[in-house]
Amino acid sequence: MPGPWPRRPRLVAGNWKMNKSASEGAALAGQLVTLLSAGRPCEIALCPPFTALEAVGVALRGSGIHLGGQDMHPEPKGAFTGSIAGPMLAALGCRFAIVGHSERRHGLGENDALIARKARAALRDGLTPIVCVGETLAERESGKTTDVLVRQVHAVYDGLGEAEARATVIAYEPVWAIGTGKVATPEQAREAHQVVRATLDRVVTSGVGQSVAILYGGSVTDQNAVALFAEEDLDGGLVGGASLEAAGFWRICAAAGAGRG
Ligand code: PGA
Repeated sequence: MPGPWPRRPRLVAGNWKMNKSASEGAALAGQLVTLLSAGRPCEIALCPPFTALEAVGVALRGSGIHLGGQDMHPEPKGAFTGSIAGPMLAALGCRFAIVGHSERRHGLGENDALIARKARAALRDGLTPIVCVGETLAERESGKTTDVLVRQVHAVYDGLGEAEARATVIAYEPVWAIGTGKVATPEQAREAHQVVRATLDRVVTSGVGQSVAILYGGSVTDQNAVALFAEEDLDGGLVGGASLEAAGFWRICAAAGAGRG
């Protein structure tokens, strides 16, 4: 199991989704490593597609920027055509694995039970799972946001011990904000984070909610990052589109680092 992920300093993870070849990814990682020479604003992770993991890992070597996978199979090996196992990610130097991203929940039909298995498998394989949760627009508009978050947190954390829970990171990503240019307000993010923290307290043990890092994701850009990260309860961001270009992504990292004095 990985050690606990500290709430501070903040973490900004770039989710490249299905973008960047190995050579393009290595070039982007190299640009970020160059920017690091001016100092590291916060903890940073890059989650390239599987095919770019090795090249990006080489470009990041020794930099302190973390590497992560965008998904993983719950089994450690076997006859699962097209899938990637946690030990394979770990062998490439990954620290993180995103599990339960809404594009997999809603686009590929992944359910709570599968996501729970993936999160446990990540812990088993020495990876810090970034567990994504979040409501759709219809769920928000019908007043179901809290119910959805409670259900999603429950599914993954029920049965985990305190140390296991503390070795995870959660990303609150309202589905209506992902890739849409619509960003949650800092208040909406804080309210959702509070629901997640209170649920962790109930499901795992009292007090654990405050020690698990919760990132916000959904249309984070260098334009809105300062306002978002002024909200103390955000422990960082999971950034999609705006992580594909070095200078803008760096400004997001800087805003995250500056927002927590
Ligand atoms: P976005 O994606 O920043 O492009 O909205 C975030 C995510 O899906 O993790």
